[in-house]
Amino acid sequence: MTSTTAAAIAGPRFYEADRDIASPNRNLTPITTALDGEGRLQVGGCALGELARRYGTPLYVIDEDTLRATARAYREALAHHYPGPALALYASKANSSLAITALVASEGLGLDAVSAGELLTAIQGGMPPERIVFHGNNKSLEELRLAVELGVTVVADNWHDLELLAALAPLQPVRLMLRFTPGIECHTHEYIRTGHLDSKFGFDPDQLEAVLRHLLNCPWARLTGLHAHIGSQIFELQPHRDLAGVMAEALKLARSLGHPVRDLNVGGGLGIRYVSSDDPPSIEAWVRTVAEAVAAACSERGLELPRLLCEPGRSLVATAGVTLYTVGSRKEIPGIRTYLSVDGGMSDNPRPITYQSHYTAVLADRPEAEASDTVTVAGKHCESGDVLLKDVALPPATSGDVLAVFATGAYNASMSSNYNRIPKPAAVLVRDGMAELVQRREQPEELLRYDVLPERLRPVA
Ligand code: LLP
Repeated sequence: MTSTTAAAIAGPRFYEADRDIASPNRNLTPITTALDGEGRLQVGGCALGELARRYGTPLYVIDEDTLRATARAYREALAHHYPGPALALYASKANSSLAITALVASEGLGLDAVSAGELLTAIQGGMPPERIVFHGNNKSLEELRLAVELGVTVVADNWHDLELLAALAPLQPVRLMLRFTPGIECHTHEYIRTGHLDSKFGFDPDQLEAVLRHLLNCPWARLTGLHAHIGSQIFELQPHRDLAGVMAEALKLARSLGHPVRDLNVGGGLGIRYVSSDDPPSIEAWVRTVAEAVAAACSERGLELPRLLCEPGRSLVATAGVTLYTVGSRKEIPGIRTYLSVDGGMSDNPRPITYQSHYTAVLADRPEAEASDTVTVAGKHCESGDVLLKDVALPPATSGDVLAVFATGAYNASMSSNYNRIPKPAAVLVRDGMAELVQRREQPEELLRYDVLPERLRPVA
């Protein structure tokens, strides 16, 4: 994960700099970010400070135009650069909700789900089952049964999946993909290639032939595709080129054994800009690289072109998301640090404490005021590491100010928790000056829903 501290962000109007409408993953902020007549920040035509006051904070704001623009960027780049059929599947682990599912479905994308919860969200959000793939390195029998009943494609990750599916003995053959470890490991600025990868996901490449032979004797299985995924928040293109070769080799093997494999699923992984120094490739460049590499690797081997699938998560939704917080207490430790505490933290965005990731923030009502203060934005959790932004430049902020943190649309809501029994935030979808609630704010009483107090422990009245 690359980063510098967000203190390094450019000055005023950074959100209008290097705006790349065709590839929002290269922007720091949603494509609709602008100043209103009073110099306040707005997204989707809605003043962020107003949204915070209307819906409360922390609040996840999702910009519909940005989300649709990224979806279109994938769709159009695939159509333009790949000579065969192609489909982008939204990796819903990045942010799973009915509204986001409905939006990506309406843009013609498919979806990748990894649990019964994500599957049900996808189906109820209107994603057609034939556009859904079901992943997971430890699927339960119940989850597999649901996937088979729904008629989605199951990505077999290991022998255990195959045993459970055989035990279900479905009447209709199951559409199956095989996931294997491609032996390509990615880091942000380098990648190494190894024969074996230390990964819990997918069949070891050495086992691939045995699995393919095994499946020839499974009447319940219809092998439709091969899958591999090399990592996330990746800025380099070369590992994706190399992956194409590895996958084409696997495709050749599968077809030579008699499997009429149609789909090649290259996973996700394209990075986004969290701070101004991040410089990810555009969606267009990523798709072009992958599409050309897959087409070339197949033609070199004389293989009929497969359908190309990819599974972007972060690069589809991250930039569309902004989180709003209200500033509360301030603690100045002379010569050491100033802490500004907000009303959320590691429960709504666990990425800084988990991955030491960096973010960019502004004051929603004074985005252009001189950032003359250096502060550390802390959350409200009982944990010293609960810091959202470390030593960032902000205008002097006081209690009641609304802080907007950018690029929080991926792996924030979906990784949120109730640590310290703090309710999960609400989410609103904004577009053309309209805001719609798409996730209701959890209430403290609701957190007790699953507690059971045995009779003998009940307080005596
Ligand atoms: N496909 C598969 C099989 C995956 O495992 C993932 C992500 C994706 C697609 C989507 O990758 P993306 O396009 O989002 O990079 N929680 C971490 C990220 C974990 C990614 C897990 N797999 C974070 O917050 O950075």
